[in-house]
Amino acid sequence: MKANYICSNCGSIFTKWFGKCPECGEWNTLEESAVAVEDKSTKKSKIVKTFTAPSTSKAQRISDITFQSHIRFSTGLNEFDRVLGGGVVKGSAVLLSGEPGIGKSTLLLQICEKIGEFGKILYISGEESSSQIKLRAQRLGVNNDNLYVLCETNINKAIPEAEGNAPDLVIVDSVQTMYDDELQSVPGSITQVKQTAMMFIRSAKENNYSVIFVGHVNKDGAIAGPKVLEHIVDAVLYFEGDKQHSYRIIRAEKNRFGSTNEIGVFEMGDEGLIEVENPSEALLSQRPSSVPGNCAVCIMEGTRPILSEVQALASQTSFPVPRRVTNGYDYNRLNMLLAVLEKRMGLRFSASDVYINVIGGLRLEEPSCDLAVAMALISSIKELPMPEDMIAIGEIGLSGECRSVSHSELRINEAKRLGFQTIALPYFLVPRLKNKYKGINIVPIRSLFDAINLLK
Ligand code: TYD
Ligand code: MG
Repeated sequence: MKANYICSNCGSIFTKWFGKCPECGEWNTLEESAVAVEDKSTKKSKIVKTFTAPSTSKAQRISDITFQSHIRFSTGLNEFDRVLGGGVVKGSAVLLSGEPGIGKSTLLLQICEKIGEFGKILYISGEESSSQIKLRAQRLGVNNDNLYVLCETNINKAIPEAEGNAPDLVIVDSVQTMYDDELQSVPGSITQVKQTAMMFIRSAKENNYSVIFVGHVNKDGAIAGPKVLEHIVDAVLYFEGDKQHSYRIIRAEKNRFGSTNEIGVFEMGDEGLIEVENPSEALLSQRPSSVPGNCAVCIMEGTRPILSEVQALASQTSFPVPRRVTNGYDYNRLNMLLAVLEKRMGLRFSASDVYINVIGGLRLEEPSCDLAVAMALISSIKELPMPEDMIAIGEIGLSGECRSVSHSELRINEAKRLGFQTIALPYFLVPRLKNKYKGINIVPIRSLFDAINLLK
């Protein structure tokens, strides 16, 4: 028998070995296989086409189209419902992706308790044994008679079992462990992941059950799998957070049944995930007082303002090239801020190691956090603490100027609610807001020079 080479990434078959797969362009994925290989044309025909909505052959006026409103189940976790747009829609397909160990299985098992009141759930696990799932369920207090568990990785067995049980919701944990034994590629490869998802989605739409896929991604989201599914599912949710921190954030990247602006915040505890309804309060609760290098910051997560704390530490370096370490803030943005502080303000950071840390594993991705980071840096290098009841909001430009930000009122309201009395804001916004917030000290910031004066 002639040896063949199969790409473990895309499943293509070649008679010659290549370092780089000519089909998908991945390196070092071709593996020698002695098995007789079915010819390519029959293999291709096995792949189920993307499930599309039923076609209508005649064009219709939009006002004549009738529809049924979606039936949704509440998951029992408000934070999760909010991200989904009000609960799981019957017949929909959701992808929940995140790094391994972040808590996806925990979250999905927890929602089984409440959803089980409305309908039947089938939890298909390819990662844990039924006794492991039972043990975890017991620990989480999930004990619903409507929850069924199936440990199976072959979709040609799992799908008939799902259809035979007539569930309302099927959970597939994880999509990377499932495989179609009629395909040659290994489980977890792009072909297998796509095939698994498409076959489940087709079955779900035909039998009117919802399906939630778990998908693992690595730090840069690059691993084969979840990314290729994003266009075929109805909603894509990301579960993220630092494993070292207990806070977890779930956000919608795509949602056909709701807004993608909402986030849900959880805390991982001994008894599973606990909803955090008031994230700002929780994040600020352990804030040290009168310590240089701290500044409160406000980010917008969709329509929700969340307050946290950014910490900076500038200490004399013992390396030839000073270190820049950032956790939760963009590395290049930090370098830009340091360059601005050095060039415009004459603050010497080139002899210091600089560390930035954002509390709670939050990520400051908005430019509106620049002012707070800059103030934390100034406060650290000058060894002067910031006024404790102050929060800083603004974007910093290359000339050291402070620029306007969006959603300023939502941010101020949240800061006010949590007891902040002084708000450093871009100069441009102050005339509009000054009269509105009478009891609050609004400090206009034109440039970083104004910011420095606040510390003195
Ligand atoms: P898990 O849901 O297994 O992660 P994933 O399915 O995303 O890979 O969660 C794993 C982590 O959560 C594990 O490190 C232990 C922790 N954990 C708790 O801290 N408390 C709990 O009650 C549970 C169930 C898990
Ligand atoms: Mg898991």
